[in-house]
Amino acid sequence: MNQFEIRQHFIDFFKEKHHLFVPSDSLIPRGDKTLLFTNAGMNQFKDIFLNQRKPPSPRIVNSQKCMRVSGKHNDLEDVGRDTYHHTFFEMLGNWSFGDYYKKEAILFAWELMTAIWQLPKEKLWATYYKDDEEARQIWADETDINQKQILPFDEKDNFWEMGETGPCGPCSEIHIDLGSDFCHLRNEPDHHCGVNMNCPRFIELWNLVFIQYNKDGQGTLSPLPYKHIDTGMGFERLVAVLQGKKSNYDTDIFRPLISHIEEMSNTPYGQEGQHNVSMRVIADHIRAVTFLISDGIFPSNEGRGYVLRRILRRAVRHGKLLELTEPFLYQLASTCIDTMAAAYPELKEDPNNTILIIKKEEERFRQTLHRGLFILEGMIEKNKQAQKSVLSGQDMFLLYDTYGFPSDLTKELLEEHNIGLDESGFQEAMALQKAKGRSSWEGTERLKQEEELARTYQDIAPTVFVGYQQVSDNSNVIALFLEGQPIDEAPSGMTVECLLDKTPFYGEAGGQVGDIGLLTSATGSSQVLNTTRTPQGHFIHHIKVEQGTLSLGDTVTAKIDTQRRDDIRRNHTSTHLLHAVLREILGDHVRQAGSLVSPDHFRFDFTHFERISQSDLVLIEREINRLILANIDVHSETTSFDTAVQEGAMALFDEKYASEVRMIRIPGISLELCGGTHVHKTGDIGLLKIRHEGGIAAGIRRIEAITGKKAHSWIVHLDQEVHEIASLLKTSEDRLKQKISCVLIQNKELEKEIVILRNSIMKNELRRMMDETVEINGIKVVINHLHHMDTNDLRSLCDQVKQKIERAIIILASERAGKVIMVAAVTAALIPAFHAGKLVNQIARMLGGGGGGRADFAQAGGKFVDKIDEVLAEVPDLITQLVK
Ligand code: SER
Repeated sequence: MNQFEIRQHFIDFFKEKHHLFVPSDSLIPRGDKTLLFTNAGMNQFKDIFLNQRKPPSPRIVNSQKCMRVSGKHNDLEDVGRDTYHHTFFEMLGNWSFGDYYKKEAILFAWELMTAIWQLPKEKLWATYYKDDEEARQIWADETDINQKQILPFDEKDNFWEMGETGPCGPCSEIHIDLGSDFCHLRNEPDHHCGVNMNCPRFIELWNLVFIQYNKDGQGTLSPLPYKHIDTGMGFERLVAVLQGKKSNYDTDIFRPLISHIEEMSNTPYGQEGQHNVSMRVIADHIRAVTFLISDGIFPSNEGRGYVLRRILRRAVRHGKLLELTEPFLYQLASTCIDTMAAAYPELKEDPNNTILIIKKEEERFRQTLHRGLFILEGMIEKNKQAQKSVLSGQDMFLLYDTYGFPSDLTKELLEEHNIGLDESGFQEAMALQKAKGRSSWEGTERLKQEEELARTYQDIAPTVFVGYQQVSDNSNVIALFLEGQPIDEAPSGMTVECLLDKTPFYGEAGGQVGDIGLLTSATGSSQVLNTTRTPQGHFIHHIKVEQGTLSLGDTVTAKIDTQRRDDIRRNHTSTHLLHAVLREILGDHVRQAGSLVSPDHFRFDFTHFERISQSDLVLIEREINRLILANIDVHSETTSFDTAVQEGAMALFDEKYASEVRMIRIPGISLELCGGTHVHKTGDIGLLKIRHEGGIAAGIRRIEAITGKKAHSWIVHLDQEVHEIASLLKTSEDRLKQKISCVLIQNKELEKEIVILRNSIMKNELRRMMDETVEINGIKVVINHLHHMDTNDLRSLCDQVKQKIERAIIILASERAGKVIMVAAVTAALIPAFHAGKLVNQIARMLGGGGGGRADFAQAGGKFVDKIDEVLAEVPDLITQLVK
């Protein structure tokens, strides 16, 4: 059977047992901030396990794309070293949601493995959680497995958790004994061949999880209302076993990639040795990279994009070990797409884009590597010279942070040179850095806050939002909170949180800011300063009571600031137009990566590799304004998520959408899933002006723009500025450019003249200074007050005097910008008897300042410009005293 047949066989087996086939979810877990990547087939069903959503069928079967490179499930270190761990892999699974349980799950698995696929029973082993007597009995009594091959294990091996939080439960696994040939460790002193003994002879094929708990942010397990089945079978391993291959890399899943690497590197693939490890790493990583990018992840320095970048870079490094010196990964990406697209058609949606992103990133990394290696080599050399055996954490951090050189590569290279590293110093520097910048992936911390918020509002019904149709409504106050504590009444002056049964106020979401406005009741009125919302759908009005009191149960008229809302609507619809036009002009690789929609402006972040040229920006702006002038209707529609996707609606990757979704349609231009508020016709936007374009991370650009009233005031402002500039320059607006060119030319000429004049003044001054020299005890003393000189002029004069006189002390002062500047010099023949620094400091103090410097030259400053002559007159006496 080839890989496609095996995948299909599994699905068909469960379809016959009344399971519904569901396609693989994206590698980006939708709306689940606790996970960086989809790491198991069950992720997309998490909310069903938690009883938050009804399953489309009580029994489901699928084959899910997974990544295990971070968090609780991380196999990165094993990849390539062995032949059966992967970063990216597929997981076959069958599910029961409150339907069948342990017995059927075990019997289905046993039937498929032994009766259908005819795997030899004597080679199969079953494990169960030590306290799960029920599972043990099912294996012992209901299957014909060898009784000695049923083994108990503890939490580490037989209790499955998705991550730090989420659905979990005891599990039972099926392992296969591949035969003693597979264990290359068997002669090592402490090694025992066996299940769960880190022995490559015994590998886990299928995990049957009996989901019955939810683990929360505090680590508490609470029983779920229903019991479920979640099973997962590593597809690549299964294919190796069924195809009778020694390793996953010999199956038809990996063979085309391995052959392509063999061909490019001119190296045959075997099993043992570093170059084979490298070939496996590359074959594994290119799959991860290709699938991640086609699921919409872009290489970056944060979160998911960072993991993608690291994997890609790791592959490049292993390519170097195979002496692949030119970019090669992007070529392998085509092989990967050709091999896998029949099962995952999304790979074929925009293959050129995926390949291009890989190529660009590979090229960029080659430059980084080159520079980083150069710096690291310098550091290693220095370390060797200083006979240090450890590279400092600071150095390692510098490489990582400033030069983008991956720390795992630093480690590997240091190992090659037998140099250790200060891991804790590095971690410290990293922690400091992390504390400075907020990570883009919010993770468990945010979850804890959300859980706390959810607890606060748990007994309150979600708010009904009426703001799509209305700007004001009569509503009831159903809760008031002061700093998280419920209260009954808020007096005038108090700032509290208020929940209404229904509201026209938009709660901040999807990049759009919350509404502000007024709540008025029979007993008082309150300003709504902001509106936010919880994931459970509570709209929180952050209010300040202005007059009277606001009490629980009050009926209020809730009225939003409509002008502000109109400005927001203009900006929100503009982001949709911009998104569509960017894709039109720059290409389909452009995807929204974030946005902020406020009344004053909007910003739109999107994936794109390079700066947008000025001419493209003009084009983009012109096209959007053309669509605005076309005054096209903007519709909102509610439909099922599946229909929306079928219609090609743009959705954000990591947003969780309900089964009913709202779409904003600008016919022929744009279709996006969006809960925001929009204009009725594009003409309502009035005008759009792009104000800024720039990069915010590798591969992510940002455009900021203004619309409507703001765009108009911007033009008025520019117009006024031009008008004022013209009148300053005493010309008319249409001759302004010409006038400015003239002024600039004149300026240049004046500058030239100034230089000539200065030189001649300096010459005169020098002559005068030499004439006014006084002599004290055979020392020539030059003391002078010059006008409008800067420090450089004074220094240059000093130098010229020094060249003319052998034994001289020079003190020069000038006023500049209302302050005294001063320099002093002493020729070599008079040092150490005199010290320029000390001398100038003493004089400057009399002028309300200070200074210092070397014995031969020093400078100082002071405040009392009027006293320069008076103080300079005292200098000869000062020197006379010093001579004595
Ligand atoms: N959730 C379990 C696993 O990932 C079974 O699917 O192993």
